[in-house]
Amino acid sequence: MEVWTIKKLLEWVTGYFEQKGVDAPRLSAELLLCHVLKLERIQLYTLYDRLAEKPQLETLRGLVKRAGEQEPIAYLVGRCEFYSLPLKITPDCLIPRPETEQLAEKAILFLRGRPGPQRALDLCTGSGCIAAAIARSVKDVHVVATDISDKALNVAAENMERLKLTEKVQLLCGDLFDPLITGLDDTHFDLIASNPPYVSDAEYEKLDKNVKDYEPAHALRAGVDGLDVYRRIIAQASDFLKSDGALMMEIGYAQGPAVRQLLDESGSFAEIKIEKDFANNDRIAIAKKHPKAAAQ
Ligand SMILES: C[S@@+](CC[C@H](N)C(=O)[O-])C[C@H]1O[C@@H](n2cnc3c(N)ncnc32)[C@H](O)[C@@H]1O
Repeated sequence: MEVWTIKKLLEWVTGYFEQKGVDAPRLSAELLLCHVLKLERIQLYTLYDRLAEKPQLETLRGLVKRAGEQEPIAYLVGRCEFYSLPLKITPDCLIPRPETEQLAEKAILFLRGRPGPQRALDLCTGSGCIAAAIARSVKDVHVVATDISDKALNVAAENMERLKLTEKVQLLCGDLFDPLITGLDDTHFDLIASNPPYVSDAEYEKLDKNVKDYEPAHALRAGVDGLDVYRRIIAQASDFLKSDGALMMEIGYAQGPAVRQLLDESGSFAEIKIEKDFANNDRIAIAKKHPKAAAQ
């Protein structure tokens, strides 16, 4: 009978993933093994010679096959890490991307740089990753996070619960700003952050199988040119910003000029900047509320 140590399993699964074109084969193999064997990543190496049990091997076999068919590892293991926070993830929400950590970082630095209690709005929160990162990293902040998907918000709610952030983050279901009730809620924010859907119809057709077949389409698609949600956010955002507040949005790598133009033409924003990600692609649009936009 074949004997499967952790070392041998790691090598075999990594090789299988390489053959099948799974992203980051070694890391993916490690994450699946950790999940099935209920170990931390470091333990895979300290317990290299430990034998896997038969039921574990059977579970692993099923998951390895699904991963080989391009099902995302984060959905298979039901979790991922964002800004060093462990998050629950299900196929109801987008898997947070490393690029989005840069948006979270900018938001955190902006809020930390301002005096007094801060209010932030995270539109299109999905798993709640940006809201959670802000709430965890900014001392005196209240975050309102909205999403149109109640299923995604259920995941966000579980994440806030697990991270003990329910006091600092309020989750509301609805279309962009709609869940905020002017006159009842405090609708003036220091910062509006958002990673909205921004994939155009043509790009959507060309997405990799592991994204297109598994991640929710409503989290990705934003009309013919991918700008539909930006247009709507930009049209309304300044009404919800304090006079010195800022809007920060993640954008697609080729959307910098178009989003800059939308912000510019709205007349509601000043100091418009398009910032690059680590791969030197346009990734974040930042704008301050224009001093001439209606004072709040
Ligand atoms: C690109 S995902 C981002 C999720 C999360 N913020 C992140 O960075 O991983 C976009 C999210 O927007 C939500 N969404 C799509 N259209 C929306 C709308 N009109 N109003 C509010 N949320 C919307 C989707 O349900 C999805 O959770």
